[in-house]
Order: sequence, then structure tokens, then C-alpha cells
Amino acid sequence: MRIDIITVLPELLESPLNHSIMKRAKDKGLLQVYTHNLRQWAVNAYGQVDDYQYGGGAGMVMMCEPLANAIESLQKERSYDEIIYVTPDGAMLNQKLANQLSMKDNLIIICGHYKGIDQRIRDLYVTKEISIGDYVLSGGELAAAIIVDSVGRLLPGVLNDETSALFDSFQDDLLAPPVYTRPEDFRGSKVPEVLLSGNPRIIEDWRHEKALEITGAKRPDLLK
Ligand code: ADE
Repeated sequence: MRIDIITVLPELLESPLNHSIMKRAKDKGLLQVYTHNLRQWAVNAYGQVDDYQYGGGAGMVMMCEPLANAIESLQKERSYDEIIYVTPDGAMLNQKLANQLSMKDNLIIICGHYKGIDQRIRDLYVTKEISIGDYVLSGGELAAAIIVDSVGRLLPGVLNDETSALFDSFQDDLLAPPVYTRPEDFRGSKVPEVLLSGNPRIIEDWRHEKALEITGAKRPDLLK
């Protein structure tokens, strides 16, 4: 899978996408992420990519021309399955959406700043608008990093234990059951007996029961 991110702050994306599982995904050649500095397509030598909004009001708007040129120059090289704009008024990111995106080959993610991007770019180019939560970030980069991480780890072969994403929270609309490691007894607090039983069926049943119990207590909305 290839993801191209259009941003005015490529530096913000360097660290989150170059460690741990994302790094492994890239090293294995399963995920390619390219950041593109929008200022390459600035309208003048000052690197301008934003301007005052029509109708007045505080805050700048990211201009059509640099964004359109950035998108079109990427599209000249390959076709894209989705052109995503990260924005607080987009569809909320969840595991289902991450799963859907993980089946695509080529994605563009546009990171907004200031008051956002000119509406005409959304109308003419953007195919999907995604929010990572009901709060406002100072730019789309962290949202883009979250999308890349949640999608990248689902690509076949990225996780060490191929099956482990199957047991993540949300994968079946359930939160994950509790997990334990050594020691068996931590200051009098013991690992549930069933996990020491060595009986995979009983353990599986217990985990499912716990997942239901925890989901009912913390996120009853998921059980519908
Ligand atoms: N840009 C600013 N806030 C955002 C959010 N909550 N989700 C996605 N992109 C954003």
C-alpha cells in the first residue's frame, strides 16, 4: 500500500511514522508513505499557500491552486483509490473504516491548517473526509499519522503474529479482554486461574465473556 500525504509540516510526520510497527511495515516493503511539502506548489516565491477568506473573518484558508497542483502531480504517476481530507467535520474514524482503507492500494491524505482548505478542493477532488474525534487539532498531520498507523498495522504481514489484529479491541465491535504476564502473583493480586489452565477452549470462552462484560460496562453503545 502507498500513502501520499500533502502537508505544510512534513517534519511533524517524521517521528510517528518511522518507529515500531510503522517502521517494520515500511522496512518489509508492505507500506510506503511519502510526505509532500505543499510549499513546492506555492503560488509565489514567498511560499504562499494560504490566503484571507472571502466574506471576512479571522483565519487563513488554504488556497485551491497549490492543493490542486499537488494532487494532480501525484495523479499523473498513478491512480488513487481515495483522496482523503482530515477534518473535524468528517466521518469519525473507527476500526471498520480502518479495515476498509487497509484494502486500498493508493491513498492521498490532505492535511489542513488554519481555517481549513478552500471548499472547492473538497468538492472537486476529495473523496473521503475523516475526523479522528470531536475536538480540534491545530493541523491535520497528527490525524493523518493516526490514520496511517491504524490502517498500516492491518496490512497482511505487518504484525508479527498474523492473527493478533483479529483480537484487537473493536475488531468484532467488542473491547479486548484483560491480559496478564508474569508473575502469577503480584503483591497478592493473582492471574485468573483459567488462564493457567492450559485449556485453549476454556480460555477462549473466558476471554469472549470478559470482552462482552467489559464492552457492556464501558461501551454499551458497541453492543447495539
Ligand atoms: N484537523 C483538525 N482537527 C481534526 C480532527 N479532530 N480530526 C481530523 N482532522 C483534524
